[in-house]
Amino acid sequence: MALIGMMGSGKSTVGYRLACSEGLRFVDLDAAIEERRGCSIPEIFEDEGEDRFRDLEQETLSECLASAELTVISCGGGIVLRAENRARLQDRAWVCWLRAAVETLSRRVGGDGNRPLLGPDPVADLTAISAARSGFYADTAHEIVDVDGLQVEQIADRIRRRRPRPAPV
Ligand code: S3P
Repeated sequence: MALIGMMGSGKSTVGYRLACSEGLRFVDLDAAIEERRGCSIPEIFEDEGEDRFRDLEQETLSECLASAELTVISCGGGIVLRAENRARLQDRAWVCWLRAAVETLSRRVGGDGNRPLLGPDPVADLTAISAARSGFYADTAHEIVDVDGLQVEQIADRIRRRRPRPAPV
């Protein structure tokens, strides 16, 4: 299963909760990239640029999707920017878009200095980024969960209910 959506939509928290409750492996792609490079995402953006970050993101996603182990993957918000990632996700995972209003996102990440794509006006940036990506999220997702006003467990519950179950043996 892969969770996609904007920064601040709750992918990591919800993904971790889902993985724990079902005994699945959990991979946060951003954390995996940071571990691999030995530095933070803002440092990678700063030192190597966004393109290099997107290459690392694509490689890490491919490796993760190649693993046979059942996994909950929390993707970085920009994973859908590359067509290869969108195609691979659709093909190899059940993809759920955690859709959130800009107000929700800005409340959660507006004051966070660790967001290389957000400048002095986070609401304007989140609005523009969200508008530019919504079509990609919609095209990639097999299911959409609207997360505004919901607690982590409520979101996890909706995902559990909507996810297709493997056929009983
Ligand atoms: C990004 C979102 C971040 C991280 C990087 C770029 C984006 O991940 O990958 O800062 O392009 O939206 P989260 O969505 O997990 O915050």
